[in-house]
Amino acid sequence: MKRFLSDEAATIAFARQLFEHLPENLAGWTVLLSGELGAGKSTFARALINAAGHVGPVPSPTYTLVEPYNVSRGTIYHIDLYRVSDEEELRYLGWNELDDGFRLVEWPDRAPGLSAQADLQLTLAYEGDGRQLELSGLSDRGAALVNTLTPV
Ligand SMILES: Nc1ncnc2c1ncn2[C@@H]1O[C@H](COP(=O)(O)OP(=O)(O)O)[C@@H](O)[C@H]1O
Ligand SMILES: [Mg+2]
Repeated sequence: MKRFLSDEAATIAFARQLFEHLPENLAGWTVLLSGELGAGKSTFARALINAAGHVGPVPSPTYTLVEPYNVSRGTIYHIDLYRVSDEEELRYLGWNELDDGFRLVEWPDRAPGLSAQADLQLTLAYEGDGRQLELSGLSDRGAALVNTLTPV
């Protein structure tokens, strides 16, 4: 599914829409967020975490690697793999133990094997003054979710 997001407000609105289509229990879902620097990955992540009910700052996990948020529908782990150079390092951040929550991953290309374990791939790309969004399902339930979103 592709959609043109003309400004930051459109990115935030899409994050809210996606959140509404996620299951009540967020545990075990993994969403990969790709795109170059400034494409809007963190804007999207912040909007989704806010949509889930978190009030307050959403600091970048660049140095901590993982920032957890306890929300009414479970735990959201905002993960940034920018500083990770290979799959082995995922063990150090306790990747496997984070499956009790919803994993929202920036720079997933640092660990290419993640695609096989993820549900959704969201990619943001610069287009004029806005961004082109592409969302695809990586798992059966992810693909089913994408089909419930209306393309624009
Ligand atoms: N759809 C959009 N169109 C134009 N600008 C956007 C859009 N979405 C977000 N932005 C802006 O682009 C920048 C994205 O920054 P950020 O979310 O930190 O990117 P990333 O995490 O991918 O490096 C912010 O300045 C934000 O206001
Ligand atoms: Mg970012």
